[in-house]
Amino acid sequence: MKSKFGSVLLLSLVTVVFSTTDPGDLDVLMEFRDGLDNPELLKWPENGGDPCGPPSWNHVYCENSRVTQIQAQGVGLKGTLPQNLNKLSMLNNIGLQSNQLSGKLPSFSGLSNLRYAYLDFNSFDSIPSDFFDGLDDLQVMALDHNNFNATTGWSFPKALQNSAHLTNFSCMNCNLIGSLPGFLGSMPSLTNLMLSSNRLSGEIQGTFSGSALQMLWLNNQLHGGMTGSIDVVATMESLTVLWLHGNQFSGTIPENISNLTLLNDLNLNSNKLVGLIPSSLANMRLERLDLNNNQLMGPIPVFKASKVILASNKFCRASPGLLCSPKLWHL
Ligand SMILES: *[C@@H]1O[C@H](CO)[C@@H](O)[C@H](O)[C@H]1NC(C)=O
Ligand SMILES: *[C@@H]1O[C@H](CO)[C@@H](O)[C@H](O)[C@H]1NC(C)=O
Ligand SMILES: *[C@@H]1O[C@H](CO)[C@@H](O)[C@H](O)[C@H]1NC(C)=O
Ligand SMILES: *[C@@H]1O[C@H](CO)[C@@H](O)[C@H](O)[C@H]1NC(C)=O
Repeated sequence: MKSKFGSVLLLSLVTVVFSTTDPGDLDVLMEFRDGLDNPELLKWPENGGDPCGPPSWNHVYCENSRVTQIQAQGVGLKGTLPQNLNKLSMLNNIGLQSNQLSGKLPSFSGLSNLRYAYLDFNSFDSIPSDFFDGLDDLQVMALDHNNFNATTGWSFPKALQNSAHLTNFSCMNCNLIGSLPGFLGSMPSLTNLMLSSNRLSGEIQGTFSGSALQMLWLNNQLHGGMTGSIDVVATMESLTVLWLHGNQFSGTIPENISNLTLLNDLNLNSNKLVGLIPSSLANMRLERLDLNNNQLMGPIPVFKASKVILASNKFCRASPGLLCSPKLWHL
């Protein structure tokens, strides 16, 4: 009698442990499926059921009957995302990169457990202004190669600065306009910032002074590009890769750029930099240095970098190490 009761109790405990998927989460997943043109690629069961399983459905990961991850990278999904995606409040990792998702990117507002979000290489055409609200735990966000807000362009909302753990942020070719937001320079954890191929303009603001960035890509801004001096980069001593090519940065290359002792790839191609190449730069043991297409003058120093590209400038002599002749120097 006692033992029979015990086993009934045990069975019901088992049921509790593997309890069915949270009904709210199930609704969002069903809407996600319904918004796709080719939902069959997910290989989810026809008649609904229990995404958290066991076994859990393809591309879905759960903890305690809540959906914590959706991983459907490069599946070939076409269609739109449900606008209530942020009801998956325990979501910590979403990987939808390299699909053909389109339409409005839903707000991620309030996804306070979200750490990793890969939405790059899709065809979303707008991003809501509250997208970044309350992403308290965000570490990595990739939005590259989408067509967000193409006609007006867009800029990062201030709310992003509350994501204090953000380390990687990339939004290449995603229609950013206006200045590079100053708050990005003082985000404490940000180490990789990739914003190539947008329509950014204006200067690298003073807030970037001393920033902990390791990789900074601001290259190839369309419609003109960024302007002003690059002096501030000499204070960013964690930099390993600095790509500023394809802009309109002006002034001289700062003498103290040699403070960037970890730097191994510096690309300043196609800017409006003037003056002499500082000997401090020539002495840096970079893997790659590109100074092509500027208005640099004077002699070409002997470089310690492994690979140097510097055609199309205003040097007085064609070869490294030769001094300018006094006559040419004054021309
Ligand atoms: C993008 O465009 C949409 C629709 O016009 C607008 O509601 C939204 O605020 C824009 N996003 C940003 C970040 O400005
Ligand atoms: C962060 O960015 C770096 C540099 O691109 C990359 O090597 C690393 O894998 C990224 N981290 C994550 C978690 O995506
Ligand atoms: C370069 O390094 C020197 C010595 O460590 C330091 O005094 C100077 O402030 C640094 N310059 C920049 C631009 O950070
Ligand atoms: C670094 O060099 C720039 C330009 O050469 C100069 O304006 C700046 O004061 C220097 N900073 C330090 C700390 O040496």
